[in-house]
Amino acid sequence: MGCRGAIGCHECESSRQPNNDGLTLTVFHKKAACTPMTDADLQHLAGLTPAQGDAWQRDGFLVLPGFKSAADVAAVCARARVLVDAFEPTTDSGVFSTRDRSNQCTRIRDAALLASAEQVHCFFEEEAFDAQGRLCVPKAQAINKIGHALHDRDPVFDRFSHGPALHSLATALGLAQPQVWQSQVIFKQPHIGGEVGWHQDASFFKTEPHTVTTFWFALEDATLDNGCLWVQAGGHRGPLREQYLCEGEGEGVGDGVCESGHPDRHLRMQALDATPWPDTRTAQALPVAAGTLVVFHGLLPHCSAANRSPQSRLAYTLHVTDASASYSPLNWLQRSAGLPVRGLA
Ligand code: FE2
Repeated sequence: MGCRGAIGCHECESSRQPNNDGLTLTVFHKKAACTPMTDADLQHLAGLTPAQGDAWQRDGFLVLPGFKSAADVAAVCARARVLVDAFEPTTDSGVFSTRDRSNQCTRIRDAALLASAEQVHCFFEEEAFDAQGRLCVPKAQAINKIGHALHDRDPVFDRFSHGPALHSLATALGLAQPQVWQSQVIFKQPHIGGEVGWHQDASFFKTEPHTVTTFWFALEDATLDNGCLWVQAGGHRGPLREQYLCEGEGEGVGDGVCESGHPDRHLRMQALDATPWPDTRTAQALPVAAGTLVVFHGLLPHCSAANRSPQSRLAYTLHVTDASASYSPLNWLQRSAGLPVRGLA
């Protein structure tokens, strides 16, 4: 494999120097076998400084404070509150948990998740219910997340999720033809916001080769107390440990089975590699202010703690792949012909 499409070159440890225009970089390869980057490849680098390009390669993530304005953040926060207010819970609304995938609610939960691929759906926190299954906090404080087609279905989130700044950043990170598969508002509610254990987002959006990249926007200040992100810097150079598989009748794109309520499809996590997850001694916390974008590689191990503080930790995420990579038909999120996946521009 040569250097095309990458930022820098893993194979030959090429050096990069900025050109006089201050925008592009020239890559000097140390091995003749490496494929020189074209002008188009070099333009992809234009969206990042050399230091940011180096950090991306080394760490697998970038923290970009102030990427979104306070007005943009306020607009989507207000819209999220409207969506939650309008949401009418039903018995199959679904509780979102990253830990428990084995209780009797699995089929209902799977159905709600699969149906949300092309919808705007609210999922509850596990701890929002008492032993009798009744909501024990107000609905507005009981929602774990909204997903997963906000960027296509809701005009306010559509505006937030597209534009030249995001497109340029994505291409600078090597996503020549970005495709946005998923959007989520993650609430991390005060006191009951659930833990999200160590994982890699490529488990859920597998492509060949790996291209999924996560755009994580802080809509409120994320702190050590309210459950900020933790990452393993450099961990994106390790293997994919797990793959989340959608199997069974109706596997594939747009069959509508999931909308019948109890699909014959089921979801499961399959182990791929026994490499242990990091622990807090080697992890790095990423406390960030509202408006910050944290962008990270799909193989980067990350997690967040439960929120036991009185402050919520609202965030918005986009999961983006490159169209040149093959998107696994076993990924849980597929799109029908009626709602094709779009880019970031
Ligand atoms: Fe994640």
